[in-house]
Amino acid sequence: MRFFVTTMAPERRNSTSRTAQRLAPFGTSIFGEVTWLAQDRGAINLGQGFPDFEGPPELADAAFRAMRDGHNQYARPMGAVPLALAISKQVERDHGLHRDPLTDVCVTSGATEAIAAALLGTLDPGDAVLTFEPFYDSYPAITALAGARFDTVPLHFPDFRIDFERLRSKVTPETKILLLNAPHNPTGRVFDDEELESLAAICIEHDLVAVCDDVYEHLWFDGARHRPLASLPGMGERTITISSTGKTFSMTGWKIGWAHGSARLVASVFAAHQFLTFATAHPLQHAMAYALETFDGPWLQRLRDEYEQRRQCLLDGLARSGFTAARPSGSYFVMARHDAFFDAADDPAEPDVAIARRLIERTGVAAIPPSSFYREAVSEGRRLLRFAFCKRIETLQAAMDRLAKGL
Ligand SMILES: Cc1ncc(COP(=O)(O)O)c(C=O)c1O
Repeated sequence: MRFFVTTMAPERRNSTSRTAQRLAPFGTSIFGEVTWLAQDRGAINLGQGFPDFEGPPELADAAFRAMRDGHNQYARPMGAVPLALAISKQVERDHGLHRDPLTDVCVTSGATEAIAAALLGTLDPGDAVLTFEPFYDSYPAITALAGARFDTVPLHFPDFRIDFERLRSKVTPETKILLLNAPHNPTGRVFDDEELESLAAICIEHDLVAVCDDVYEHLWFDGARHRPLASLPGMGERTITISSTGKTFSMTGWKIGWAHGSARLVASVFAAHQFLTFATAHPLQHAMAYALETFDGPWLQRLRDEYEQRRQCLLDGLARSGFTAARPSGSYFVMARHDAFFDAADDPAEPDVAIARRLIERTGVAAIPPSSFYREAVSEGRRLLRFAFCKRIETLQAAMDRLAKGL
């Protein structure tokens, strides 16, 4: 990460920086930096997880319709009623969870805001958040903004299973939130029933609130179906479940997300949301209500089928070039060991960053160096790269050809 920070954003390292101390350790997000370098060098960007294809064209029509129908002023702060209704129906249909659309759902500006509102709305200074590493990069930053402590349990390459002994040893009287991302970015894990049942038992035993980031809820493969932690016995009342339409409908730029849970927990999310954004883009909420109502079962299955082909294309290409990849059963990321490409000229302190840089410069393919997503097992993160397969098959094939030639 340091390479990108010094190269691309020298002003951020200036000692006269006015950035708040709580945020200073987080520097500049690795996503922006890799995207910048990839654009500058004309690389194919398999770094940041945004599709290079469009979502259903009907959604743009639905958004225009909503604008023409006059949904252009502030939306209801908890979410436009048609979207809150569509979310509650989807959650009931897919997971058998009953959520009152008017009290148990809060629409946010993407899952990112829902994560922020869930943590800021429930944490007090001195509380602790327990999650897994590698983690999504906003988790520690928002925890720090809340003045809380961030603790992690590593998931180890290549099977990334939860070590429950380790998890139990990290629960302290200060632990208030168990933060779970499932299906998991970047490991691609879809946690199995045994793991979910043990997680539920720990939450109940220690009276933890589970904050579940389920943005990849519809992307699972090889029969490893995603089961939300909230749907386990005793968990519906103590879980805030977060999702968004960015990943499912390939519209990451629309930033429509939500949190659902018991009315009591959603009130805490709303307590922060009302001061973060107050309300979310109104016409897009109507379009997303239309999306959730219209594109269900068979459409979602087709989405998964297409993603399975993309996943295979990436896995085959990485193997051909000498990477050792873990086969993901969910999300749209692959973690791969890069040992074969490390050479003495690379920075031994940050090999993942050095190799990500070399990939962009020499092969024209960008991937994310994941060590900044680790706290404890940083040395493991430094041996890996994260590739995204939310790209057209032609893009993935071109990237794999470039890797094979360039390496
Ligand atoms: C695990 C995880 N959570 C949250 C988000 C953010 O979602 P949104 O774009 O809806 O804010 C992402 C996006 O990459 C993600 O991977």
